[in-house]
Amino acid sequence: MALSFEIPGDPIVIRAAALSKHFGSTEAVCGIDFSVRYRECFGLLGPNGAGKTTTVRMVHCFIPPTSGTLNVLGLDVLRQPRLIKARLGVCPQENNLDPDLNVWDNLRVFARYFDMTGRPAEQRCEELLHFIGLYQKRHAAIDELSGGMKRRLMMVRSLLNRPELLILDEPTTGLDPQARHQIWETIIRVKEQGTTVLLTTHYMDEAEHLCDKLLIMDRGRIIKEGTPRDLIAQNFSRHVVEISSADPSVIGVLRQAGLAFEISATHCYVSADDGVGTYRFLSDRFGEERCLLRMANLEDVFLKVTGRNLRD
Ligand SMILES: Nc1ncnc2c1ncn2[C@@H]1O[C@H](COP(=O)(O)OP(=O)(O)OP(=O)(O)O)[C@@H](O)[C@H]1O
Ligand SMILES: [Mg+2]
Repeated sequence: MALSFEIPGDPIVIRAAALSKHFGSTEAVCGIDFSVRYRECFGLLGPNGAGKTTTVRMVHCFIPPTSGTLNVLGLDVLRQPRLIKARLGVCPQENNLDPDLNVWDNLRVFARYFDMTGRPAEQRCEELLHFIGLYQKRHAAIDELSGGMKRRLMMVRSLLNRPELLILDEPTTGLDPQARHQIWETIIRVKEQGTTVLLTTHYMDEAEHLCDKLLIMDRGRIIKEGTPRDLIAQNFSRHVVEISSADPSVIGVLRQAGLAFEISATHCYVSADDGVGTYRFLSDRFGEERCLLRMANLEDVFLKVTGRNLRD
């Protein structure tokens, strides 16, 4: 299918302006602005209840915005939802496979929503089942699949219509490392083929590995935006020394030395540009076995900007 966007040469696949969604008195999404460019993998991060799923649901025309504008593939979500949906692939946060149908029929019936029938549809289903390692399970009932197998089936179901925009809401939650890497490879491959990806995840390594651009949300608002590398560089020192203690005596030493640090129940995280020097200083005082030097990562940034407290 030909690509058609608003601005030739500078295609924006998703354009949200002052986008809001309220559920009664709950302001799930509060006036956010963001753009996703063609062939980008765009990641939405945020603590539980931040508004990620609500945002992606508006993008795939599952729920209407309360206010603001939202254009997807150059089309308005309120006026042209059917045209948009035909060009999307969606893997929602909750699996919604049909338990009355087996694996094969789940794909075949779903293919019909995109007017895919006959031998071409069968070939596409076979190809995807082989690809995701579920071909041997094609006659199995959905209830006979493990959690990871269901998630993999959801993933390939979203690829049936060769979507221009793929929307993945926590695609790898609950998967083993092998299956996670398989999903990552799938995402990278479809991206190489020209698909734009909108992804939510709680795994910071996943976001760092896959996403070109990230948006960190909290309580319905955008609190940070940028490439993974920029977010780390702009919000954290280059290195972190982790100390496996949060004793007042340890905290006292850190304060006295004028070091920047954060505390969890069990650890202190000291940020430093001179990682080796800081590590030496701290391991001399607290012992090498209690100190670990590492590069700063996205999880450091996430915890710094969203805090360490659990959400409701
Ligand atoms: N259908 C709904 N009716 C009422 N409130 C809702 C509905 N859907 C979401 N909410 C509320 O909107 C807020 C945002 O929820 P949302 O599911 O978008 O968060 P999320 O960032 O996807 O969280 P998680 O990481 O837990 O999946 C929450 O306070 C949630 O309770
Ligand atoms: Mg969610």
